[in-house]
Amino acid sequence: MNTDFEVSDKTTVEWYTPPEIIRPLGEFDLDPCTSDIAYSFNKSAKTYFTKKDDGLSKEWFGRVWLNPPYIQPTITQFMEKMALHNNGIALLYNRSDNQMFHSFIFPVIDSIFFIKGRIRFYRPDGKRGEQPGAGSILIAFGKNNTEAIEQSGIVGHMFKSINKKVALQTSIIF
Ligand SMILES: C[S@@+](CC[C@H](N)C(=O)[O-])C[C@H]1O[C@@H](n2cnc3c(N)ncnc32)[C@H](O)[C@@H]1O
Repeated sequence: MNTDFEVSDKTTVEWYTPPEIIRPLGEFDLDPCTSDIAYSFNKSAKTYFTKKDDGLSKEWFGRVWLNPPYIQPTITQFMEKMALHNNGIALLYNRSDNQMFHSFIFPVIDSIFFIKGRIRFYRPDGKRGEQPGAGSILIAFGKNNTEAIEQSGIVGHMFKSINKKVALQTSIIF
């Protein structure tokens, strides 16, 4: 079982989303965390920020595509900023029993979609990684993004939140 995607070293955050996952979800305005190499092949959004820009320090706008760096505390910071922004789709590993999900993902989101099969992400050299040790989920912030997932044709199962959604007003972790 390859669990490289969750190992905390500097190189392992460079796992890039295959275009066939992003494209059917419609046009995104912003990818706040990517690299020039990733962007050159998956064109994730109209505008993007890299580590050099520091997407966490920027103002986010429009519909956001988020596959955050899988390293703490950065992943939690990006996910909290996404919850505050509340418009877009996040791609995360399918491991939800942690504080981040209970504090500001489950209370805010519109739906979670469990992708069937495992995504083999791309590395900066263009090669695909091995099958990872966990599946992936798409998390919809906003009803429009649930609808985009439903219409995408991506195979999997969606669960919609029946809880009254809470709008996160201020940061709870910073
Ligand atoms: C898991 S990869 C996903 C890349 C892209 N979003 C995608 O879907 O293919 C996370 C990316 O975030 C970048 N990154 C790390 N820290 C960042 C920061 N503070 N601001 C912007 N990007 C960052 C990494 O260099 C890496 O390219």
